[in-house]
Amino acid sequence: MKILHSKAEMTAATIAWQAAGETVCLVPTMGSIHQGHLALIAAARKTANRVIVSIYVNPTQFGVGEDFDHYPRTLEADCAAITAAGGCDAIYAPANMYDDGHATSIVPAGVALAMEGQTRPHFFTGVATIVLKLFTHIPANFAIFGEKDYQQLAVIRQMVRDLDLNITILAQPTIRETDGLALSSRNLYLSASNRKLAPLLYVEMQETAKQIAKGTPVDAALASAKTRLTKAGFGKIDYFDLRHSDNLQPAKTLVPNCRIFAAIWLGTTRLIDNYAL
Ligand code: PAF
Repeated sequence: MKILHSKAEMTAATIAWQAAGETVCLVPTMGSIHQGHLALIAAARKTANRVIVSIYVNPTQFGVGEDFDHYPRTLEADCAAITAAGGCDAIYAPANMYDDGHATSIVPAGVALAMEGQTRPHFFTGVATIVLKLFTHIPANFAIFGEKDYQQLAVIRQMVRDLDLNITILAQPTIRETDGLALSSRNLYLSASNRKLAPLLYVEMQETAKQIAKGTPVDAALASAKTRLTKAGFGKIDYFDLRHSDNLQPAKTLVPNCRIFAAIWLGTTRLIDNYAL
């Protein structure tokens, strides 16, 4: 398993594999590798001949006061975890992706404007910009993203479509702990008591879906879930919505292909999750 740090080496390796008739799948990550990432890597391995995992904590997707400085940076442990799970062909771990004077960004609209776009307006500009840069450094045939960050996946698909990028985007279902908590690097921040409480978010998303399917009006079902979460000890609810899965617009009634989307604070940790009805 190669560990490459320079754009030139990474691009050359990708092009060499493709010239030999092989396909390449990129798994973009910010490190702190967990079972969710390993599932992405396993799915990538089934799709392409070569798998590249990028590990880069991207500063431009963190806002002021967010956890950029504290975000886990564990390259050695990440490489060990990937190796133990069967490895990949290359890890791309650039030290820096922004030269001095960097002044160009991708500013997505459309599906980027709802939810995270309201509460963290800098976020998708940072994500779209770094993902486009990664696609340039690694001109892969495929890239794979988790459905846990469903809106991120939608923003990237939209960018690929809008900018005619020559890459196929694949999605991998959310991987959950046995108690239902969606895997995330930020789960490490939860205190022991909040870790016990955290799976209630998934329970409430499922319960709300059940209520809506049984005919409870959408607004009422969402409101009672929010009340229960608040009573249980969750903090600020950034959103707990029913939305169309394709355009992420709010769904006022049960429609085909919709999801519950949630972002909610638990102590100092912001949990995000989604659940298909
Ligand atoms: O989902 C992530 O880990 C990041 O947002 C990504 C896609 C690697 C971009 O930095």
